[in-house]
Amino acid sequence: MCGIVAYIGYREASPIILNGLKRLEYRGYDSAGIALLTTEKDLKIYKKSGKVSELEEVIKGKNLEAKTGMGHTRWATHGEPNDINAHPHLSGSGEFAIIHNGIIENYASLKLALIKRGHEFKSETDTEVLIHLIEEVYKNNNVGFEEAVRMALTQVIGAYAIVILSKKDPDYLIGAKKGSPMVIGIGENEHFIASDASPFVEFTKNVVYLNDGEIAIIDGTKLTIKTIDNTIKTPYIQELEISLESIEKGGYEHFMLKEIFEQSRSILDSFRGRTHINDGTITMAGVDKFEDKLKNVKRIIIVGCGTSWHAGLVGEYLLEDFARIPVEVEYASEFRYRNPVLDENDFVIAISQSGETADTLAALELAKSKGATIFGICNVVGSSIPRFTDAGAYTHAGPEIGVASTKAFTAQVTALILMALSIAKKKGTISSQRLRELLIEMETLPAKVEKTLQSDKLIIEIANEFKDSKNALYLGRGYGFPVALEGALKLKEISYIHAEGYPAAEMKHGPIALIDAEMPVVVIATKHSYYEKVVSNIQEVRARKGRVIAIATEGDKEISNYADHVIYIPSCEESMLPLLATIPLQLLSYHIAVLRECNVDQPRNLAKSVTVE
Ligand code: F6R
Repeated sequence: MCGIVAYIGYREASPIILNGLKRLEYRGYDSAGIALLTTEKDLKIYKKSGKVSELEEVIKGKNLEAKTGMGHTRWATHGEPNDINAHPHLSGSGEFAIIHNGIIENYASLKLALIKRGHEFKSETDTEVLIHLIEEVYKNNNVGFEEAVRMALTQVIGAYAIVILSKKDPDYLIGAKKGSPMVIGIGENEHFIASDASPFVEFTKNVVYLNDGEIAIIDGTKLTIKTIDNTIKTPYIQELEISLESIEKGGYEHFMLKEIFEQSRSILDSFRGRTHINDGTITMAGVDKFEDKLKNVKRIIIVGCGTSWHAGLVGEYLLEDFARIPVEVEYASEFRYRNPVLDENDFVIAISQSGETADTLAALELAKSKGATIFGICNVVGSSIPRFTDAGAYTHAGPEIGVASTKAFTAQVTALILMALSIAKKKGTISSQRLRELLIEMETLPAKVEKTLQSDKLIIEIANEFKDSKNALYLGRGYGFPVALEGALKLKEISYIHAEGYPAAEMKHGPIALIDAEMPVVVIATKHSYYEKVVSNIQEVRARKGRVIAIATEGDKEISNYADHVIYIPSCEESMLPLLATIPLQLLSYHIAVLRECNVDQPRNLAKSVTVE
């Protein structure tokens, strides 16, 4: 969480930083701040609780001229979101300024020791402790700026992506990374540092992803990368794949709506080039690399958080159905702190849109330490998980900016379908004919997604009816169960209505007690293997006066006898149901949240990239 951006070069720094902060706001929006370093060695800092737009009000009319600067958008961890706790933070003398994404775990003991040595702190943050420490090392050891940062970091335990400015060295920008993401953009005679590449995508496509334990020193126009123990590294320059259009709203009112409507394309992009209908094969380099292992593996463990965990549940059904491999799906946060039984025979798949989720990364580290093969299904290219894993598959959903995950989920499911089918083919647990049928079905999905999206107007009407509900229940069976969980998560996170997803048959073991005329119950009731059973569950809801919104298969007239509202989706293979059935639930949450005047793209208390435990 928290977004950082910094610039050094020949352009005015402030517009680049403020624009960059807006693009990084998905990472946290509790406060925003900017530091500008002029060539006259003047360090100007402005910060404000709330969003970047509030910071803009504060700086209106001020002289912001500077060619070097940095900015921060905060997701509060240590200390409430107020002006004082906002970054940047200054050292005791005001010589140094820092921005930070991450958590300094030993900040309390460092702070105590610094207080004993006479330091006074203004904020409650762990970050301010770090900049005081850097200054103390600088003064006591009579070393240069770069050396002071390096030496101070050897005393720090925790995660950080930091940028530091020094009044005495206005031509310098220093960044360092451990556990939190940092990318450096290399332009002609200018450099950018940021949490992801979105702040500088229109300026350069050449980037270096800093590795853990590395420090970037930009001295004027020269970039040097060193490790904390002072070994010089050769920067590995990569070319960016994202474009400016992909991170703008493109005429939609919110990023979330744009991303929901992008799903026919993002699903297509996630299978394009990987499926070959003519010869009935699937190319997934990461899966092919471990062909022998996957043919014989005794179980697969999937780890993830939130929506990615829901995709993992779909993955469990797919891998069991097609590849006949037992699968366990684990919350990464639980898995990492248990003492899981793991060894070199295990195959662990991490699912993550951002590729940065701290718990998911830690679960992988644990699995790797036990000798398991680790595989990533991620969306953000070059992020920490893909760089840490033995192999993986990118989802190609494109940048997802809305904090609530939508197109990333369907892209993850697409990748999991391909993975399950590819392993099934290698193992011989699927016939060539069945595989071809499924690949042909896959080709029809983008058009079916388009058709599903046409229910938008009907969904707005339904949203109007239910916008003031206090609670909602989502029910599904089989592949419809993870869809129900995902629908409930979407509603609660962006509209703040309490919602629960349940396996439809579990309803009678408790949740049925909640049902009355006030309770909307969304049921995945498509014409698949469980259809009759789910219809019985709907009757049970209706008998208690619950109000039913059914997601049903086109052409199923019968269902309207039981449900208050029916949203139809095109008929599809059961295993591909989550790709279509999730979409009306995303739209329902979106419209309810808009009608309740909630901040859809940046729901309260949330952040897109959860880089803290
Ligand atoms: C929900 C949502 C979160 C994320 C979760 C994991 O809409 O976005 O639940 O799914 O924080 O994030 P990633 O996928 O980046 O690991």
